[in-house]
Amino acid sequence: MLNVALPKGRLGEKVYEMFEKAGFACPSIREAGRKLIFENPECGVRYFWVKPSDVAIYVERGAADVGVAGKDILLEYEPDVYELLDLDIGKCRMAVAAMRDFRDDPRRTLRVATKFTNITKNYYASRGRDIDIIHLNGSIEIAPILGLSDVIADIVETGSTLKENNLEVIETIVPISARLIANKAGFKFKSAQIEALTAAMGRNGGEK
Ligand code: PRP
Repeated sequence: MLNVALPKGRLGEKVYEMFEKAGFACPSIREAGRKLIFENPECGVRYFWVKPSDVAIYVERGAADVGVAGKDILLEYEPDVYELLDLDIGKCRMAVAAMRDFRDDPRRTLRVATKFTNITKNYYASRGRDIDIIHLNGSIEIAPILGLSDVIADIVETGSTLKENNLEVIETIVPISARLIANKAGFKFKSAQIEALTAAMGRNGGEK
């Protein structure tokens, strides 16, 4: 049985459809309800819905053989997993944004509010800039408005959240998309199944 961690929410439906097209259908997953685990013994697959930011934990620890996680999560937590394929969905970017009238003073320590502490530290370290990280868990856009930070480092997809809060992108850190990931030991034991899955998903639009 191939155990698959799917990201619950926005991307979930699209991701499941990619698995279905790749030959791993599980019709019961479409039934409405609060159930979180679904399996189809005929295709040898078991799916579970998990919080998107937890997918990499399930896969790293082997509770799931494969899963789909955003590149943001992979860069932030650096889980010890194989990244098999760029699925070319869930596309957005990690960016630095500020209030429209913000003027940076390079002599001052920059206060950066973010959920993505590791990505932010690495980015500014590579540029030799001193920063003061303010770790928040959500609604990051509020921080510069209230003077809690100078800028934010966050995910930008359509840009509407920034626009509606009078913020604008000042630098792009890295482009993001959803990736197919695998547990390292599971990849060895179930290599035939996982390689067939990766190849089929690649044919259906993902990129190696
Ligand atoms: C993300 C991100 C921004 C928003 C960007 O938050 O943190 O707030 O989406 O999208 P946009 O550019 O299309 O407006 P999300 O909705 O995932 O909620 P979260 O803050 O709970 O992570």
